[in-house]
Amino acid sequence: MARKLSTRKRPDRDVHMIREQLKIEEGIFDTRTMMCLWRMFNHSVVTRLDFVLKTGKEADVYIADAGEKAQGSEYVILKIFRIETSSFPKRMDYIIGDPRFGKVKSSVHEVVNTWCKKEYGNLKAAEIAGVHAPRPYYFKGNVLAMEFIGVGGKPAKTLKETELDEPQQTLDLILADIKKLYAAELVHGDISEYNVLMERDVPYLIDFGQAVVLNHPRAQEFLERDVRNILGYFSRRYNITKDEDKVIDEITGR
Ligand SMILES: Nc1ncnc2c1ncn2[C@@H]1O[C@H](COP(=O)(O)OP(=O)(O)OP(=O)(O)O)[C@@H](O)[C@H]1O
Ligand SMILES: [Mg+2]
Repeated sequence: MARKLSTRKRPDRDVHMIREQLKIEEGIFDTRTMMCLWRMFNHSVVTRLDFVLKTGKEADVYIADAGEKAQGSEYVILKIFRIETSSFPKRMDYIIGDPRFGKVKSSVHEVVNTWCKKEYGNLKAAEIAGVHAPRPYYFKGNVLAMEFIGVGGKPAKTLKETELDEPQQTLDLILADIKKLYAAELVHGDISEYNVLMERDVPYLIDFGQAVVLNHPRAQEFLERDVRNILGYFSRRYNITKDEDKVIDEITGR
């Protein structure tokens, strides 16, 4: 039997508006995703979907108007993981071996939901560690709601799209955040000029789906790759060189 959407606690006009909006999005979202989006409206995480910011192979990123659960922000980012994606099986590498996700069912939507939950958990850990990263608000199924990084409704640009005034300072801030994450027993695993957003000269790390805990068998390898990627970028673009081994020792406290 189809589940009836709960309309409790909402004035009729609101419910009507949400229904109308979800109708507009019908054909874009599958039924499962629609139910998760409905939950976001119903829990006052968002009040309106504005527009798609970026469509990708694995996820689409939307800007939405914030509801009262979004802690005083004006906008919320909704990252909607695609169920029909061919590249998720390879992501099992990051899930298997992470004790937080012992048993993962093998259906595609379960893997996608686990990925979404994992990104939420990783962002939560980053928040607690004091890392510059979007604050996570809520997740349901394949939909993740998080803090909008940007100024005055304008989304922040990636590190790659930004010409830095103080590249040395920016690099130091990124390395300091990698160190804070490491102290919180987490390795990002996909740090690059594409997964850092610049908001008012402060770098924010994003895209935490693949981050792993330190006792993951490949955590050290992922940390070394993160450091190599970011040092490589600053060396190529800004001619700043740092010794990779020393940086890793500094992060790990060896
Ligand atoms: N919290 C945020 N605030 C503002 N913009 C964001 C936020 N999260 C993501 N974006 C935008 O959406 C893009 C894609 O986000 P993200 O990297 O998390 O997803 P992805 O699936 O890995 O996409 P890609 O494959 O392009 O890296 C980012 O490059 C950025 O432009
Ligand atoms: Mg990304």
